[in-house]
Amino acid sequence: MKILVVGGGGREHAIIRKLKESLQVEQIYCAPGNGGISADAVCVPVKATDIEGMVALVKQERIDFAVVAPDDPLVLGMVDALNAAGVATFGPDKLAARIEGSKVFSKNLMRKYGIPTAAYEVFDDPADAMAYIERQNTFPTVIKADGLALGKGVIIAQNLEEARTGVHQIMEDKVFGASGNQVVVEEFLTGPEVSVLAFCDGKTIVPMVSAMDHKRALDGDQGLNTGGMGTVAPNLCYTPEVAQQCMERIFLPTIQAMQAEGCPFSGCLFFGLMITPKGPYVIEYNCRFGDPETQVVLPLLESDLLEVMLAIWEKRLNPAMVRFSQKHAACVVLASGGYPQKYQTGLPIQGLGTDGQPTQGTATIYHAGTRYEDGQYLTAGGRVLGVTCTADTPELALQASYQAAKGISFEGMHLRRDIGARNLAIK
Ligand code: AMP
Ligand code: GLY
Repeated sequence: MKILVVGGGGREHAIIRKLKESLQVEQIYCAPGNGGISADAVCVPVKATDIEGMVALVKQERIDFAVVAPDDPLVLGMVDALNAAGVATFGPDKLAARIEGSKVFSKNLMRKYGIPTAAYEVFDDPADAMAYIERQNTFPTVIKADGLALGKGVIIAQNLEEARTGVHQIMEDKVFGASGNQVVVEEFLTGPEVSVLAFCDGKTIVPMVSAMDHKRALDGDQGLNTGGMGTVAPNLCYTPEVAQQCMERIFLPTIQAMQAEGCPFSGCLFFGLMITPKGPYVIEYNCRFGDPETQVVLPLLESDLLEVMLAIWEKRLNPAMVRFSQKHAACVVLASGGYPQKYQTGLPIQGLGTDGQPTQGTATIYHAGTRYEDGQYLTAGGRVLGVTCTADTPELALQASYQAAKGISFEGMHLRRDIGARNLAIK
């Protein structure tokens, strides 16, 4: 089969490397891809959000199956367009992608179907939002832009002043554009966070191994929010008991709610969970594989990913199809100096062979932001590389990833030194 993967980051690289293991795969294309991905797939310079361009590409290359990985093309309806062009796809359609595309939609869904989530109110007027926050007078309080905001649409306000600035930026300065036409103001929850990705075919849901993300830029969860500086899997606070509660109170009710609303969810549903003193709560849904969660989850998948994706397309997913290894995985992100703010690109990366992989050792490098020029890999994004290792214990997986990271360098390279430390403390 000829496969197209839409996107061009570490997540897409991890999906492609797993798909390559499938005997049914003849050729993989990636649009737009990146330097490192071009060692594993044919990269085509079509932007991930270019729906018309993508439809033209699948026709031209006679693609049999398309995997739409990033949030924005999903929310824009790329799956609908590819299906209309006669191509089988992996990913939710536009209506189902609202579960990530609109926080108002997802919060109202959870309220209607009794799925545990932070108490909240929705506002389309900044003065009303501020009047509510003043009346509540409870801090921290959480302010979220309704729509997609490059992962930056959540403000945790420590006091009235920060809340006022946040509401003003989102609703009046429109720093996230139309995404800020409405805001959700919600209760601040506490507890460890868990990411759970789940395969769904509209009616059956099969969770994957759990993961832990590290969103802040600096050690000890300090610094600014990023797309994720590293991940480990499994997440050790996701005990069998918590998993059972999540299945009963969150996963099944969510998939049933989406069916009942007439927008069954097909693809990978990402549950951002917080294990609060009152049990697991949903912090957010994403309508896609997480990044960098995918870089630790898929290496542990023992099943044929393409077979699982085809079963989802044909609505015949069942739990026996999805097998995970008992091993542990760790991914350490190597980022550009300055990320998530201003950073330089085009810097040469040392320590990679022509295939974009380390010249020694068994680590797998997922390329998040690289270019390949004249036999040299160069930095091309904020998150540059994800160094992933699997091992029999969480300690060994982390040691191996950090060891492999030592062999790679570029000017200004930044990494967190404490990926997985919280996970080990749970043990
Ligand atoms: P998001 O951009 O939606 O991934 O949210 C970023 C981070 O904000 C989450 O990973 C949480 O750590 C935090 N967060 C979001 N909502 C809440 C909440 N209601 N209570 C506490 N923390 C939250
Ligand atoms: N790592 C969180 C996300 O993919 O949104």
